[in-house]
Amino acid sequence: MMTALAQPTVASFFSGIGGFDLAFERAGFRITTQCEIEPFCVDILTKHWPDVKRLGDIREVKDADVPVSDIWVGGFPCQDVSVARMGPRAGLKGKRSGLFYQFARLIEGSRPRIVVIENVPGLLSSHGGRDFRIVINTLAELGYGVGWRVLNSKHFGVPQSRQRVYIVGCYRDGRGPAEILFEPECSPRDIATSGQDGQRVISPFKKSFGDPLTGPIVQGIAYCLYACSARHTGTDWSRTYVSYPDGRVRRLTPLESERVQGFPPGWTLLDRPSVDVDKMDTLRYTALGNAVSVPVIEWLAGRTLPVLQRLRNSQVAYEAPQLSTQLRLLDAAVV
Ligand SMILES: C[S@@+](CC[C@H](N)C(=O)[O-])C[C@H]1O[C@@H](n2cnc3c(N)ncnc32)[C@H](O)[C@@H]1O
Repeated sequence: MMTALAQPTVASFFSGIGGFDLAFERAGFRITTQCEIEPFCVDILTKHWPDVKRLGDIREVKDADVPVSDIWVGGFPCQDVSVARMGPRAGLKGKRSGLFYQFARLIEGSRPRIVVIENVPGLLSSHGGRDFRIVINTLAELGYGVGWRVLNSKHFGVPQSRQRVYIVGCYRDGRGPAEILFEPECSPRDIATSGQDGQRVISPFKKSFGDPLTGPIVQGIAYCLYACSARHTGTDWSRTYVSYPDGRVRRLTPLESERVQGFPPGWTLLDRPSVDVDKMDTLRYTALGNAVSVPVIEWLAGRTLPVLQRLRNSQVAYEAPQLSTQLRLLDAAVV
């Protein structure tokens, strides 16, 4: 007989404003620790999780600093692999995306049962796919069965087209990643050999809602939110805008941005902000553009529960880290 799962725990890395944390908590997990360097994000984490242990710069974190936790989650910085930057990409050799190696160093020290990583799809193509191979190989060499899937937030109940790659590693378990990432359920087969032409599908980006006489008029779905400044008037927001019949247009507000990422309204507001409104909006736009869409992670989090229960029941033995692997990771980090 299966025993009930003692409250499962999550350690969160590159926590940002806590998108992973909120989603896993909603799925029944307890957050044991958060690791984040950016002061504004730390303030938001402190607002929502005043009692959770917080770690700063991941480069300074030691194995013993991280409380034992069932699942480790993190979306390491994407700037060096993202195609949104245009031009050459430093990939995992970059200062920011290279922090993946720090995450791997800590995974090696603790070997959590499950690891969930999120990043931009640019990770798949950076350096002709070699960077993605490094991520997958690194986890595999540490003893993880690994799977990945690209998911779009628009299929999870938020009006935003946001594609991200989700990587799942299960310690010494080859089945878990597929059980978490892919549904075995399928819809009934369509056996009709022919049918009438349907209506022409209108792109959801072209559908709009609102009162054409008074406005505001909004697109049916927002393009992917990016980290951007409140002052910026360039192309970073102009594809998704709210318009009014008199010709005025505006960008999404920080509150609307929270909503299209699936955060509760006001999630990134501080009670006593230490900066002016413009600066605060920039901090909010940046953090929200970097965040995960909460409902996607909530879906994944729910799917980790039965796998975690199976892994706990199977009493997977943990191994001490191998020195040779440690050295290889350090080598890779300084290339
Ligand atoms: C892609 S964002 C992750 C956002 C997060 N998943 C969320 O939902 O808000 C990457 C985060 O890593 C943080 N970061 C960058 N360098 C770091 C470091 N050396 N140590 C810890 N966190 C770091 C950034 O401040 C940023 O918040």
